[in-house]
Amino acid sequence: MPVTLTTARLLLRPWIDDDVDFILDMYSRWEVQRFIGLTPRVMTERHEAEQRLQAWKAFEDPVLGIWAVTTHDGARAGTLLLKPIPASAPTTPLPPSGDIEIGWHFHPDAWGHGYASEAAARVLQHAFDSGLQQVVAVTNPANTASQAVARRIGMAHRGTTDRYYGTTCELFVAEAPA
Ligand SMILES: CC(C)(COP(=O)(O)OP(=O)(O)OC[C@H]1O[C@@H](n2cnc3c(N)ncnc32)[C@H](O)[C@@H]1OP(=O)(O)O)[C@@H](O)C(=O)NCCC(=O)NCCS
Repeated sequence: MPVTLTTARLLLRPWIDDDVDFILDMYSRWEVQRFIGLTPRVMTERHEAEQRLQAWKAFEDPVLGIWAVTTHDGARAGTLLLKPIPASAPTTPLPPSGDIEIGWHFHPDAWGHGYASEAAARVLQHAFDSGLQQVVAVTNPANTASQAVARRIGMAHRGTTDRYYGTTCELFVAEAPA
């Protein structure tokens, strides 16, 4: 279970069973899914949301995590991820690359408030406070909204890479402060 983190406006907490409806609502939207995965598709079935919830609850690591992001009044806003990033490879499942990625998926109702950047900055700080030396973020080249989040939290754009997920991504890197 990931450690709970807070920011001025947000709470980043473990996922709970009550979150299934939110997961289905968010990931059933094309505007959320269109840049996620090699073959984007929207979630259509409640059991998919339940499976995702169980997988996230089962993700155990002392530092890494997949957080539910809410406002302080409990309104759900999105997902923040800090997890191993798969390498590009001819085999499936793709093997781990050894690198750690940060990622963000927010409900459209929560866009345009700076919530994704605020939550991501907090997780990056947590990563470095916990001893990680480097965190990467990758985006679809067309996903300018996500690239803006990476830039807002101080990640450096390193061009495109084919190193991860078996596709070409824009690569952003953050290094631990000296
Ligand atoms: C990527 C994504 C999280 C970006 O969300 P976002 O709300 O635009 O990002 P931020 O949290 O950084 O918010 C920035 C916006 O909030 C505005 N804002 C309003 N109040 C603000 C405040 N108090 N502080 C900061 N920004 C604020 C900014 O002006 C900016 O708006 P703009 O884009 O119109 O200039 C969102 O588009 C998303 O979930 N997409 C679908 C999933 C996805 O593709 N994830 C990435 C996969 S790589």
